[in-house]
Amino acid sequence: MTILAFRLDVDQDGVATVTWDMPGRSMNVFDLAAMDELGSIVERIATEATITGAIITSGKETFSGGADLNMLDRLLGDFRAAAAAGHREAAIERLYAETFRLGDLFRRLETCGKPVVAAINGTCLGGAFELALACHGRIAADHDKVRVGLPEVRVGLLPGAGGTQRVARLVNTQDALTMLLKGEALRPSKAKALGLLDAVVPADDLLPAARRWLRETPRKVARWDEDGFKGAGPKVFSPQGFAVWPAVNAHYRKETFDNYPGARALLSAVFEGLQLPFDQALKVEQRYFAQVIQTDEAAAMIRSLFVSLQELNKLARRPAEVAPTALRKVAILGAGFMGAGIAAVAARAGLAVALLDRDAASAAKGKETVAASLQKAVSRGKLADTDRAATLARIEAGDDFAALADADLVIEAVFEDRATKEAVIARAFAAMRPDAVLGSNTSTLPITSLAAAAPRPRDVIGIHFFSPVEKMMLVEVILAKKTSDRALAAALDFVRLIRKTPIVVNDSRGFYTSRVVTTYIAEGHLMLAEGVPPAMIENAARMAGMPVGPLALNDEVAIDLTLRIMDATRKDLGETAVPEAPYRLIAAMVNDHGRLGRKNGKGFYDYPDSPAGRKRLWPGLADIYAPRADVEAIGVAELKERFLAIMALETARCYEERVLTDVREADVGSILGYGFPPFTGGTLSYIDFLGPGTFVRRLAALTRRHGARFRPNRLLRELARSNETFYGRFGPPRAAADGDK
Ligand code: NAI
Repeated sequence: MTILAFRLDVDQDGVATVTWDMPGRSMNVFDLAAMDELGSIVERIATEATITGAIITSGKETFSGGADLNMLDRLLGDFRAAAAAGHREAAIERLYAETFRLGDLFRRLETCGKPVVAAINGTCLGGAFELALACHGRIAADHDKVRVGLPEVRVGLLPGAGGTQRVARLVNTQDALTMLLKGEALRPSKAKALGLLDAVVPADDLLPAARRWLRETPRKVARWDEDGFKGAGPKVFSPQGFAVWPAVNAHYRKETFDNYPGARALLSAVFEGLQLPFDQALKVEQRYFAQVIQTDEAAAMIRSLFVSLQELNKLARRPAEVAPTALRKVAILGAGFMGAGIAAVAARAGLAVALLDRDAASAAKGKETVAASLQKAVSRGKLADTDRAATLARIEAGDDFAALADADLVIEAVFEDRATKEAVIARAFAAMRPDAVLGSNTSTLPITSLAAAAPRPRDVIGIHFFSPVEKMMLVEVILAKKTSDRALAAALDFVRLIRKTPIVVNDSRGFYTSRVVTTYIAEGHLMLAEGVPPAMIENAARMAGMPVGPLALNDEVAIDLTLRIMDATRKDLGETAVPEAPYRLIAAMVNDHGRLGRKNGKGFYDYPDSPAGRKRLWPGLADIYAPRADVEAIGVAELKERFLAIMALETARCYEERVLTDVREADVGSILGYGFPPFTGGTLSYIDFLGPGTFVRRLAALTRRHGARFRPNRLLRELARSNETFYGRFGPPRAAADGDK
């Protein structure tokens, strides 16, 4: 066969160097052709007498990202379509055959009878690291960009080509499971300390070191294939094993609430595999993998968290005809909490930054905040100290708007007050270059109304960051009525430069993310007013898969802000626009008890003074709304459903109103922006996998019990009637999700 993805060179000593370098791709991945090629190379290594040993390396900057998840996404689409058409048995057989190939190939390599060493020159993840684990030796370059790991759980899977079994034999059980369950990408030093690598060497010594390994310490049999092999961890059924496993199980439940079949199967595969001979253990892992890959969770997570995320990161929504924006300098107006965060990420991306505030002292304070956050990044090993100084030097703090004159992009992050923002925008345009674009970081004010304060409304756009800016990966870009394609392209180019994921939405009060998250918090208030105990509310939300409960989240956002929003809504839309019970709750919290949230240490929770202390729910809540006497009668399943349903429904409304126009953005935005449970694939995938018909029926039941806020909107009713899904009707051209079940 023609070899395309790999190069094979055999030198006079019989050392075969296999260099993985797929033409026309920036990263090596395992697709079907690459698997075929590697298969024939492994046969040559095994059977050609002139080959004495092999080095496997990569010709690209990264070693490889592993299996081609786009291919897997298509494979799953075919599988679901065939299964839905009534050919389930044949579809499963094909899926098994395809998914078992990689594991079988790696085992053949491991038992080929010649020593093989992996020379890991760049990031090596997933299936690629499983390949390295099946080599007899592993050497990595000591470089900042090198990472190794098995991130499969992050897309709802488990490693299925021997990764769980090899890691669990090389590394002690506790560390192995932590690494596997977190899907962590490890630095070489950490991987070596764990026992996953044999050596870490300077980058330019990588291939010579691999050769030395073959000459001096060749091993051609894996340790687990040797007689008397003992793994790095204790036997499962031993006193030490008993000390590990129950704790692991408890930890898994606490972290996942058993929502992730991939993580559950991973634990089972390791638990069972460690008690079996190696080849049987591999079979156990393969079978778990084959089961998990058929789950809705895996299909949803691969689609949203890999395929769609990748497409959004490649700026799927960018107007193609606009030339790339030359971004060298960005000016940030308002050096407060958000402004400082935006300055930090922009400077880290290499941009020159002007950080401006009302006076020089406030701006300097903002720069100090940046300095502290960079220092923290250094102490966590995320930033080199030399880069810290250079990054900080790129930020110029002050109060003179003349600094705007050579900025390519201006971002305003001043107080959330219309008059202040309008004044700042007008002043900025007077100082800006005639072609520069202005983005507003407002969280609630419609951009179209702010753009009216600018002489060039076409150049005004919303660039909505999430807090904390350094950590949150999403940026919501908001189109005002007159926003030009050029401004959109500039905003998206900026978001990509700072390595975040953009979604593009149309203007509306609260845009998309703030609007949906408000319904989540409000549902928590309503439950409290119904007499559901606060701890039950918070736990039900976490059990549903949310990262924080609605009351804890309200504390973060600030309760007085909620009151201000409620007051404004009542003023604009009438008193009945906000239900009486939650309004009474929030007004009492703020006006009677001075409980503003985390910012004053007193909200739905009490916050301890010491950073080490734990927050606790405020007992005084019972005096505002006493818990019901018949707490046992409250159904936790319904509480969980209410949280997810109200957010999914609000997303469907945003879609109907064209605030959202892309299903991928709805889903990815829901997970990255407000923590909608990743295992669902996002708000619209939640509806699609449930089936719009089923969802509408459930909403009808919730409406009967809890009121009109659960009433399905027209679009949902229409999809239910025509038995369609969001992805089926609006999705980008690729495998459709399940129909109504
Ligand atoms: P902040 O109060 O920490 O910072 C605002 C800064 O703007 C202050 O340093 C203030 O001195 C400065 N400022 C006020 N008037 C000014 C003027 N005329 N010229 C120059 N600077 C002026 O507020 P924060 O939290 O940073 O919010 C800023 C914006 O970001 C608001 O629009 C807010 O809604 C939005 N936002 C806030 C989020 C959050 O979680 N705090 C999340 C997303 C958006």
